[in-house]
Amino acid sequence: MEILHVSAECYPVAKAGGLADVVGALPKYQQSLGHTAKVVMPMHRTKFLYNNEWEVVHKGSFRMGEMYLDFTIIKEKTNKLGFDLYCVDIYGLLDRERIYSYDDDTERFTAFQIAVTEWLSKWEHHPNVVHVHDHHTALIPFMMQYCFGYRHLSRIPTVLTIHNAQYQGWMGWDKATYLPAWDTWRWGLLDWSNTVNPLACGIKCADKVNTVSPGYMEELKREANGLESLFNFESGKCTGILNGIDYSVWDPATDTYILDNFTVKDLKHGKGLNKKKLCDDLGFDMQYPLIIFIGRLVHEKAADLLAEAISKAFEQTGHAFSCMILGSGEKEVENGLQRIQNDFIGYYHSQIEYNEKLSHQMYAGADFILMPSRVEPCGLNQMYAMRYGTVPVVRRTGGLKDTVIDFGEENGYGICFEKASVEDIVYSITRAVELYKDKTKLDEIRQRMMNINNSWETSAGKYIELYDSIYK
Ligand code: GLC
Repeated sequence: MEILHVSAECYPVAKAGGLADVVGALPKYQQSLGHTAKVVMPMHRTKFLYNNEWEVVHKGSFRMGEMYLDFTIIKEKTNKLGFDLYCVDIYGLLDRERIYSYDDDTERFTAFQIAVTEWLSKWEHHPNVVHVHDHHTALIPFMMQYCFGYRHLSRIPTVLTIHNAQYQGWMGWDKATYLPAWDTWRWGLLDWSNTVNPLACGIKCADKVNTVSPGYMEELKREANGLESLFNFESGKCTGILNGIDYSVWDPATDTYILDNFTVKDLKHGKGLNKKKLCDDLGFDMQYPLIIFIGRLVHEKAADLLAEAISKAFEQTGHAFSCMILGSGEKEVENGLQRIQNDFIGYYHSQIEYNEKLSHQMYAGADFILMPSRVEPCGLNQMYAMRYGTVPVVRRTGGLKDTVIDFGEENGYGICFEKASVEDIVYSITRAVELYKDKTKLDEIRQRMMNINNSWETSAGKYIELYDSIYK
């Protein structure tokens, strides 16, 4: 089967979050199952672009509202990622360093989607499935069916994967003129509460819709940033497929980013060495448990609660742990986390940046990872952490609930709590501090986690089954 993935991000080409990790790994695993998977994404100006060789495979043009746009599709020449990678360039719109957060993101991603559909419409053969990811690509199933110029694509089945339903790509109705001539009788498919809502449109038009964990799909029927009734109405074509992780990238035995490689057999020693390096660099005392947070510093991840919760936990435990934060995001949250730095010298450090290498070192060296997320469609960090023997401390929500069992339960290995609140976080940190004292239990838990298989193998097959169910 041939699958075309369309996404705004793909690791290691350009990454803002977990979406990139999924789109960088899933196609690779689909290839190993004997299928042909391709990825097309915008040609962001990242290091990967400049450090690799490309060939031009297509050139075209289209009109978007008042703009006439030329686009170019380039292909990476050496199959470096293990699948065919295509990038779309549109002068003045996609030639930027960052992936998101420009004032004209609506124009940028609408143009990207039109370019992809236009290119697809010129193929001599067609892929068996077009698999789009999140709202930046969710207008494609609509265009393939209801734009007059693309009707010949309407028989290709489409899948929409929702990695995050908080963002929906809303735009005013005035921007509907951006789309290539479409059947206006179908305006209702674009609309949600009087705006054009690309995510809602994707849910209505794709043949199958899935979220990245079963738990999150159930939650969306109750709380989906305005789309609850739509998820209930369309529930017949909606499923949850748990993400996997890329075992070739996330393996403590071979990871080149970490100081000392280790396996489950020498995990005590190996983790010890990695922890020592981190603690020495930060001036932390090795004897205390090291608790980390890695991720975007935003409300959704409950990062706004961290500064207060960590300060309180230091007070309550008598500074019985060390803590390191890595991430960037909302200015206020960043400042709050920086501000407490002086109060806890020798115990606390916040590094405000995105740093892939350092994140690997933290998974390898830490004892616990904190994830108090308000919303967590799947969460990959808890799975990375577990592979490196680091105990997840998570709020019971979405994918976190689906992947972590509290150590108080049978065969458990994590620490789970109910609410995204300062109290629950503080309480869970005190449980972590207590667990750390019981070295036998901790060792048993680490071994159990490292033996869990969270690789993409199983889930990659589930996507194939999903495609099979709609393959016409
Ligand atoms: C988004 C979600 C995260 C998920 C990732 C990959 O970043 O917030 O929970 O793991 O997408 O699907």
